[in-house]
Amino acid sequence: MLAVILSGGSGTRLWPLSREAYPKQFLPVVSEDSLLAETIQRGLMLEDDLRVLAITNEDHRFVVAAQLQVQAPTRTDGIILEPVGRNTAPAIALAALAASDPEELLLVMPSDHVLKDIEAFRVAVRKGAEAARKGKLVTFGIVPSAPHTGYGYIRTGEDLGGYSEVAAFVEKPDEATARQYLNEGGYLWNSGMFLFRADRYLEELAEHQPDMLAACKAAWAEKQDDLDFTRVGREGFEACPDDSIDYAVMEKTGDAVVIPLDAGWSDVGSWSALQDILPQDEHGNVCRGDVIVEDVSGSYIHADSRLVAVLGVEDHVIVETDDVVLVADRSRVQDVKKLVAKVKAQG
Ligand code: GDD
Ligand code: MG
Repeated sequence: MLAVILSGGSGTRLWPLSREAYPKQFLPVVSEDSLLAETIQRGLMLEDDLRVLAITNEDHRFVVAAQLQVQAPTRTDGIILEPVGRNTAPAIALAALAASDPEELLLVMPSDHVLKDIEAFRVAVRKGAEAARKGKLVTFGIVPSAPHTGYGYIRTGEDLGGYSEVAAFVEKPDEATARQYLNEGGYLWNSGMFLFRADRYLEELAEHQPDMLAACKAAWAEKQDDLDFTRVGREGFEACPDDSIDYAVMEKTGDAVVIPLDAGWSDVGSWSALQDILPQDEHGNVCRGDVIVEDVSGSYIHADSRLVAVLGVEDHVIVETDDVVLVADRSRVQDVKKLVAKVKAQG
């Protein structure tokens, strides 16, 4: 089994802590280790013969190489570097093309997750491997707790013994639709981890995204190896359509199954998600760094470089860093990326 660690995202929803130069997967967000280091450790703990392949961009190659060197010096298949970001579907295609055995099982692991119960995860992955060997595209489903719009939703179909058919896969529905799914029942969140044979993923791309597959193959044909790094051809990859595996493949395939996963998973995808997984005080606050509060509840307050004093607010997110202070309503944290876009536009 090859753990394919996706580490090319910019994690804009944890701005201003997560920056383009240093996105959240490289930050020690939850423990002393970075989310990426935790992801590598989690993969290695799963199976003795599992190897790790990382996919990232030029800018972050040394951070990723250093983390792999520390965590998995003898169990890595190297690092693929994308000349430009084209989202997860092409990144995973490169991993599938890199697999030496076409039937190699790829366990796709985003590097921005927290997962507490490794034993439960191992049981789910082993069950998933049975289905993946038969050619299924395996997803891991989380019981939803809110009409979250940052996740994919999986409608479970026929029970196949330990896992179910995916009757429908809907990536990031709007809030009304997500609410309707929760009311109807029978839906799981997509955890963002996948397990399938390399050749099956490439077949799905051939069927649903032929242009993407052609571009990835062209880029792969032009690859150059340099120590730990494999650089794919710029021209081919620049011409590749930009799309996530969720829209490009999972919404379209008829061959997906879902394994329920109850392992203390969270994607740390927003400030409120982070607040939910960290220990809270009796008023539901999470305060990190030099913070003083009075009559404050349900809030996440983070001070990086000076004292932050907060009075009489509820359900707020306040994040102070050297050069930026973010103040947001907790219910709006999915929209932090809109602010990031504005800041970028200002230059
Ligand atoms: N190498 C590479 N290249 N990695 C990338 C790229 C890219 O162009 N774009 C994103 N990634 C990495 C991110 O760093 C992250 O680790 C992972 O791929 C997933 O990307 P996100 O951008 O974080 O996806 P998401 O959180 O919006 O949505 C996905 O995850 C949800 C659960 O956390 C989807 O799979 C959803 O369906 C799912 O519910
Ligand atoms: Mg994510």
